Amino acid sequence: MGAALGLGAACAPLASCGGSAEVEPGGGKPLDGGPEVGEGETIAEASGVKPGSAVPFTDAGSGEPAVLLRLEDGEFAAYSAICTHMGCVVAYDRSEDTLECPCHGSIFDPQSGAEVLNGPATRPLPEIPVKVEGDKVVRV
Ligand code: FES
Repeated sequence: MGAALGLGAACAPLASCGGSAEVEPGGGKPLDGGPEVGEGETIAEASGVKPGSAVPFTDAGSGEPAVLLRLEDGEFAAYSAICTHMGCVVAYDRSEDTLECPCHGSIFDPQSGAEVLNGPATRPLPEIPVKVEGDKVVRV
């Protein structure tokens, strides 16, 4: 896991913590660099997001990386992609269906409000409200 990589002290808040090749616990890349989306704007077309997948975007309100996930039951959820421990950008682990922080190994469960499955983080990722309008997933 990320904690064994010894990257902790080098991670600055809001940084993606260096090259993704050595910080991908489950094969995912840090969720940054997506298009900026403000309130009332479309994040993605619902039909284009398969269950068990993630779409990175930038929350226009905060200017920070965020992620839209389609859960296994077909519902959508969105969260800040900024780890609540020290501010690294989390990655989506498709094989485990979790959000994982490459810096110190925190794991969040997108199926249940991004609650912490593994520390050192103690708080869930902040949720970003979304709704489905027709075939569009809109940031509320
Ligand atoms: S920044 Fe430390 S676990 Fe995420």
